[in-house]
Amino acid sequence: MSVPDVVWAEAPDLSDRELKAITRLVYEKSGITLHSGKRALVLARLQKRVMHGGYGSFEQYLKHVQADTSGDELTALLDAIATNHTSFFRESQHFDFLRTTVLPALVARPGAAPILGWSAACSSGEEPYTIAMTCLQLMGDDAGRRVRLLASDLSTKILRVAKAGVYGDDRVTNIPFDTLKKYFEKGLGAQKGTVRVGPAVRKMIEFQQVNLLELPQSGTLYDFIFCRNVMIYFDAQVQQRVVQGLERKLAPGGYLFISHSESLNGTTHGLNWVAPAIYRRALK
Ligand SMILES: C[S@@+](CC[C@H](N)C(=O)[O-])C[C@H]1O[C@@H](n2cnc3c(N)ncnc32)[C@H](O)[C@@H]1O
Repeated sequence: MSVPDVVWAEAPDLSDRELKAITRLVYEKSGITLHSGKRALVLARLQKRVMHGGYGSFEQYLKHVQADTSGDELTALLDAIATNHTSFFRESQHFDFLRTTVLPALVARPGAAPILGWSAACSSGEEPYTIAMTCLQLMGDDAGRRVRLLASDLSTKILRVAKAGVYGDDRVTNIPFDTLKKYFEKGLGAQKGTVRVGPAVRKMIEFQQVNLLELPQSGTLYDFIFCRNVMIYFDAQVQQRVVQGLERKLAPGGYLFISHSESLNGTTHGLNWVAPAIYRRALK
């Protein structure tokens, strides 16, 4: 019996200079500020990649990221650094407000214009799927015809998870049983222990990579935008830039939902506060 050779790569150290270079690159490309404890975070998220990619040091790895004109390695680096924590019906007051206040007014609006919503840092998809289910709960099948949702994130890796819409049973425990039964398919055989978001919900959503630092100046205006639990990773300057960009993307009367742990205090904007962590663009 032959024993395979095992090459034990030594875990590379992270010098202050390398850490500074990574911190700067992450900030420039994503707006994310790496705070205290960043050394541990960078090591935890990138050391394996540096080791198993055969780069030898963080410096070599950074050189490779910068030389890779496809941008794939930079994307992988940002994927590794970004925090993707999310859940279905997270901060459920927002979905109550959507169902009881925002959607009824949009449904009653004269004309046949579609209702447009955007989940602007959608992570693994729980947020946009929750929005879609909330629309279906209120509007029934009409939601499928009238509501169009964009779900976006910086991370292409997490967007693939979002698009697949497959979750472990442990991720859906806070969804009421009736809702689960109505909008999800139970995994069988090899898929046992998972659920998949059903087609009626999935067809309402388009997934796309969008960097909040590079929001287009023109184009579609949204009736509501969810941008939650991402600005917390940005400094005041980046928050200002993102809020201004999002404000430009709101239709008159459109709503911006941020997280209850975030605040627009300290940013200059023209939105009106309507409820905790909910702002609205003026109608005119
Ligand atoms: C903590 S998750 C928030 C998910 C969801 N909005 C929620 O509240 O549960 C933050 C997401 O922001 C994304 N993100 C970080 N920087 C970004 C940027 N510059 N543009 C777009 N998305 C970004 C990350 O990839 C991550 O998926």
